[in-house]
Amino acid sequence: MILLGIETSCDETAAAVVTEAREIRANLVLSQLAEHRPYGGIVPEVAARSHLEHLDGLVRRAMAEAGVGFDDLAGVAATAGPGLIGGVFVGVMTAKAIAAARGLPFIAVNHLEGHALTVRLTDGLAFPYLLLLVSGGHCQLVAVEAVGRYRRLGGTLDDAVGEAFDKTAKLLGLGYPGGPAVEGAARDGDARRFALPRPMLGRRSLDFSFSGLKTAVRQQIEALGPGDLSPQAVADLAASFQAAVAEVLEDRCRRALARFAQDYDQSGPLVVAGGVAANQMLRGRLAAMAEDQGARFLAPPPKLCTDNAAMIAWAGLERLRCGLTDPLDFAPRPRWPLEELASAHGTGRDKVIAS
Ligand code: KG4
Ligand code: ZN
Repeated sequence: MILLGIETSCDETAAAVVTEAREIRANLVLSQLAEHRPYGGIVPEVAARSHLEHLDGLVRRAMAEAGVGFDDLAGVAATAGPGLIGGVFVGVMTAKAIAAARGLPFIAVNHLEGHALTVRLTDGLAFPYLLLLVSGGHCQLVAVEAVGRYRRLGGTLDDAVGEAFDKTAKLLGLGYPGGPAVEGAARDGDARRFALPRPMLGRRSLDFSFSGLKTAVRQQIEALGPGDLSPQAVADLAASFQAAVAEVLEDRCRRALARFAQDYDQSGPLVVAGGVAANQMLRGRLAAMAEDQGARFLAPPPKLCTDNAAMIAWAGLERLRCGLTDPLDFAPRPRWPLEELASAHGTGRDKVIAS
């Protein structure tokens, strides 16, 4: 079984071909960074137009690289939400057109499910597992029970982690996207120089909060006074910020592992996915914590943590195997919580969620 996957929900145009044997035949990602940089962030209209301009060619290249023709495909999957709706439409329309022209099944993939199932593509991990999903728009702890069946254990009350990285980078003059820039700057920094808050640390709930952390970074910069944001101060602030994030994620995941063990009668495994999971320092800290708790720790390679189409093709393949395909009039969804996904067992909402 071979699937074509398409991802256009944010600022990456991506096309990939994967097989049921967990083989990534092609995985092409075209970043729009240069197009958005002049605006200091992502402009939805610019993104949509760029996806439209590049997607056809990228699909052709991915197919050529994979050495397959449309007749070799078992289906076509595209991110159908959540995300910037103009871009999502471009990907979904392209996938539907190919599916219609070739008489192939179309699979509308939830972007978050793509991140959530990546570890089954890379490591063949069995259900259930505990997932920390951390990206630019999302921050949640989820029990992954089956394809399409997710139980949310906790989430952010305000900013996503990636958003906190991006905003901190902007405050520090490190540019966009902030995650890799902050991680790089932090390498030469002293994480103990600035005392930053650890929001939600020790709380019983499994929720997160990051907006206060970002505000504290701004206050520290203001306290330094104008002109005093030296390269060393930037490095120290980046390191202090990253240490605070690491400590909070570690604390929340430790607590979530305990809850998961109660609910599923097994310790872990803990999986971290999404763009922020590309961060080596955070991966290291979470891996050490999990080992301490006797839980296995898994994180996809960085290239498969940030947005890509291999994860969409794979999620499509998993859904297709369960008989979960979608009609050609499926409407893209700008908002689409994981709990509302269709699964072979109904939606996650049907279940009573224990608190
Ligand atoms: O999953 P993703 O590529 O797109 C979304 O679905 O949001 O995640 C992008 C986010 C951005 O906020 C980016 O700053 C963050 O992931 N990110 C990182 C790193 N690489 C990307 N955050 C921390 N450290 C990194 N190395
Ligand atoms: Zn993503």
